[in-house]
Amino acid sequence: MAQSIEDKREIAMTKAEGRRIHQHPVLGPLEYAEECTIIVDSTPLRARQGEPILATLLAYGIRATRRTEKRGEPRGLFCGIGLCTDCMVTVNGTPNVRSCVTPVEAGMVISTGAGES
Ligand code: FES
Repeated sequence: MAQSIEDKREIAMTKAEGRRIHQHPVLGPLEYAEECTIIVDSTPLRARQGEPILATLLAYGIRATRRTEKRGEPRGLFCGIGLCTDCMVTVNGTPNVRSCVTPVEAGMVISTGAGES
């Protein structure tokens, strides 16, 4: 039996929640955050407002945020603190945004896969 778009989206969101750390041994429980929708590569994703964009991408299993310009190799989380530029994405038309240190805002339109420019 074929799944509807809504069913597929619900399954994706459930998997995304399963990838989050809800109880961290040092930091404690995941704090409440308003949910919002962002668009990633033309797909609407449910995100937690204020969390790093990269956290949302990883929750959905998106590990490659860009490709290198010369060889087209995938890059993603490396330093996680805004220093290495491996996690860059395009946000609302602005290229080279570090997704590990840029907080999610409702309605963001994000593109992955572009090379560094
Ligand atoms: S992972 Fe290094 S800048 Fe984001």
